[in-house]
Amino acid sequence: MGFIVNSKIHVSKTIEQLSEYFAQLLINKTRAGSDHFNVSLSGGSTPKNIFEYLAAFHQKSIPWGKIKFFWGDERCVPPTDSDSNFKMANDSLLAKLEIPAENIFRIKGENDPQSEADNYNILLQNQIKTENGFPRFDLIMLGLGEDGHTASIFPNQKELLESDKICAVAVHPESGQKRITLTGKVINNAATVVFIATSQKKSKVAGEILSQKGLYKNYPASFIDPENGELYWLLDQDSAPTFLR
Ligand code: 6PG
Repeated sequence: MGFIVNSKIHVSKTIEQLSEYFAQLLINKTRAGSDHFNVSLSGGSTPKNIFEYLAAFHQKSIPWGKIKFFWGDERCVPPTDSDSNFKMANDSLLAKLEIPAENIFRIKGENDPQSEADNYNILLQNQIKTENGFPRFDLIMLGLGEDGHTASIFPNQKELLESDKICAVAVHPESGQKRITLTGKVINNAATVVFIATSQKKSKVAGEILSQKGLYKNYPASFIDPENGELYWLLDQDSAPTFLR
């Protein structure tokens, strides 16, 4: 697994400009021929503003009807829990766009974690074309933790980067909260991977990853570089390391 060598980095002045850039990326990518487009959504708080922007300004410009929605990770909580990545995406985007239920494939955080990881493994194999031995998402959206985690692949569980499973059970190193996450090989099998990191608290870790300096080798996000795909890093003025401002 190599380190990042060919990422497309875009620094926006505001979250609105970053959201618009992401919207245009989605428009361009979904316009390609196929009749559906498989997207894995990120969790955490960063995407919320972007989802709200898309719902507000791109109801018509993005072919929402062809998009199937999956998740890169989910907290093992019910879908009504404020911690649920599904709840955040549904409240800020999916429910506003009236996305058909049959196009939404949430990870059922309310289920036993290992059983649900096994279920989601099967679901992804049934729903998404396999290439190079793994489901190949059209686009995977990722966030970045201050500790360099992404999805729910944490620095103390880097073996998930090399797992042959499609998704697995992870444990948040501080809270002990169980998560279900896509593994590194699935993420690196995607056609497009888009990291979105905003706020000053992400600047140091983003800088180390993108410059391959400091403690970057400790960070799971450093190992995300799709072998047969494109890698985007969407930053804002606060998260952009000084050498990118
Ligand atoms: C999650 C995410 C996780 C998140 C980062 C950044 O379920 O929490 O998938 O990888 O993207 O922790 O989170 P923020 O956007 O809240 O900073």
